[in-house]
Amino acid sequence: MKKRVLSGIQPSGKLHLGNYFGMIKRMVEYQGQADLFCFIANLHSLTTIQDAEILKKLTLEAAIDLLALGIDPEKSHFWVQSDVPEVTELAWILSNISSMGMMERAHSYKDKIAKGIQPSLGLFNYPVLMAADILLIQADLVPVGKDQKQHLEMTRDLASKFNHHCGETFVIPEPDIQKDLAIIPGTDGQKMSKSYNNTIPIFGSEKEIKKAVMSIVTDSKGVEEPKDPESCNVFALYKHFATAAELKEMEAGYKKGGMGYGDAKKKLLEKIKIHFTPYQEKRADLAAHPKKVEAILEAGAKKVSSISLKTLKKVREKTGLSH
Ligand code: ADP
Ligand code: TRP
Repeated sequence: MKKRVLSGIQPSGKLHLGNYFGMIKRMVEYQGQADLFCFIANLHSLTTIQDAEILKKLTLEAAIDLLALGIDPEKSHFWVQSDVPEVTELAWILSNISSMGMMERAHSYKDKIAKGIQPSLGLFNYPVLMAADILLIQADLVPVGKDQKQHLEMTRDLASKFNHHCGETFVIPEPDIQKDLAIIPGTDGQKMSKSYNNTIPIFGSEKEIKKAVMSIVTDSKGVEEPKDPESCNVFALYKHFATAAELKEMEAGYKKGGMGYGDAKKKLLEKIKIHFTPYQEKRADLAAHPKKVEAILEAGAKKVSSISLKTLKKVREKTGLSH
């Protein structure tokens, strides 16, 4: 049997290059080899978005983006989290074996509060809902960025605890965190993130993308001065698009002098354009047919429901909820 690979993405803003290289591209690559489960985590986004129209719009846009970038509903399971409500029941059940100590150690809760997100029970409970996403599907492998490592550890903990108390029920999932994939820097050099206002959106307008690329922070070395490619944010992004030969050329230009940051940014901009233009055409087509996208999501949720109900039936039996 093929391995089950699962990951989700929150529709909390426009998808960006960090999301693309950290998660989306890898999911698309898994599609041929594994049984892929990809969902839009709109229940998780409720922790930060409390405007119905915005959440609806961002959910549809995330679906369109992911389909345009290569998630194929014929070859994968693709759905919106809230359309498979069994996950919330499992989250409740798991919350009863989640110790306060484990929950209070969660970095992401502390980080988010430090960034000014309102603390709420939902935000505190976020990792348990994430564990339910993974365990409901009995996923073997979960590709995520480094920031999600602790959530995966919590998920494994809860699965083992449940299996120990109630008998073998859940697959213990493995995290798939690419060690060699550096965090993609944003325009200010910090991690590119929807919450830092430093993103280069995958499907921004030409003007938007140009503005973002041109605003990438560099040091103030002049064109002719030698520069260090390894400490340059433009170079760090260019790496993900360029061929080995192109990369060598830019590296040599930096080291020798003669390659200005303005030129490097233009080269990066050109690469981004070439890379995403084919997807942009597909995206425009999907955006013009939202009903078609909705139908894909509905069918996806149906397909996943049969798997989730099967897991939940087992869990209900083992916890005394079925009577
Ligand atoms: P954001 O920080 O923009 O809100 P999410 O937390 O929704 O992004 O992340 C969705 C997925 O994209 C996760 O698997 C995450 O690890 C990955 N990801 C997000 N930002 C980056 C980045 N800058 N570099 C690498 N991966 C990233
Ligand atoms: N917490 C993840 C993030 O912010 C999104 C997510 C929700 C997820 N449920 C998941 C990722 C289950 C992997 C598996 O990036």
